[in-house]
Amino acid sequence: MTLNATLDLHTDPSFFQGKDVYAVAGNPISHSKSPTIHQAFAEQAQQAMHYGRMQPQLDGFTKAAKSFFAAGGKGMNVTVPFKLDAKTFSDQLTDRARLAGAVNTLWIQDGKIYGDNTDGAGLVRDLLAQGIDIHAARILLLGAGGAARGVIGPLLELSPKCLVIANRSTAKADELVKLFADLAARKQVALESRTLADLENSQKTSHSFDLVINATAAGLTDDSPLSEAAVMQVFKPGSFAYDMVYGKNTAFMNQALQHGARISDGLGMLVEQAADAFLIWRGAELATEINPRAVLAKLRSS
Ligand code: ATR
Repeated sequence: MTLNATLDLHTDPSFFQGKDVYAVAGNPISHSKSPTIHQAFAEQAQQAMHYGRMQPQLDGFTKAAKSFFAAGGKGMNVTVPFKLDAKTFSDQLTDRARLAGAVNTLWIQDGKIYGDNTDGAGLVRDLLAQGIDIHAARILLLGAGGAARGVIGPLLELSPKCLVIANRSTAKADELVKLFADLAARKQVALESRTLADLENSQKTSHSFDLVINATAAGLTDDSPLSEAAVMQVFKPGSFAYDMVYGKNTAFMNQALQHGARISDGLGMLVEQAADAFLIWRGAELATEINPRAVLAKLRSS
């Protein structure tokens, strides 16, 4: 038994004989809840697997992933800042990973590395579990970076009435509208872009939204992407405000609460994207064996 030089004790498959080994890669990664979530699924579905954390150097993802799979690793989850590296690393992408432009789930099959993106499906499943009706809803998506791009496809698939993408500057939001125009047309969704400043203007934002999703990085810095004037336009009593960040009530969530909206953080999305990855790796037939909402409830109470 030798320790692979680029892997550590948590992810070297040679230390976990008799178990299939998986890992989450990110930098930083010590805060990650993914090992807890996947070990819970493994227990529920009685799977002999180990799931560890891996923190490659910022320029070292490819080397770490190569070593992991060469040593017998079965699959990886990938988080900030490596989702684009993971896309490049994949030999074969699923359609939704191609549309998302990023990969959060890798696995090896017949010597080939496959890349998928389960983030958008995770968000949609969490919204549905919270009773949010996406079909025919008016949706506002804040942000036009990787996090926003990852969820647009799965949201459009459920045919909301409209999806407005708002960003500080329009160029990135316009690009996303172009990229998803065909899918939006097929699903008969009005897909539009705005600047965040447009949201303050009742001529440019003529109605409020049923669902407002914060996919900006603002939540990480206690900032909200919405000004007070914008908040007045976009929320109504009964709106649902969803922040992809988890672990605290963000400034965005607090604004929404003050305007009569219901709120959610992104912990459910984290659990649901993990469930999707687990089923890709271990078999879709295990869907009835795992209980993501019970795992979520346990995380919330711990
Ligand atoms: P990620 O992959 O997490 O989406 P990203 O690609 O860097 O990260 O995108 C971050 C998003 O958050 C962008 O839409 C960014 O807006 P800009 O394109 O204008 O930079 C948005 N963002 C970051 N900080 C923000 C803030 N304080 N207020 C509003 N938007 C912010």
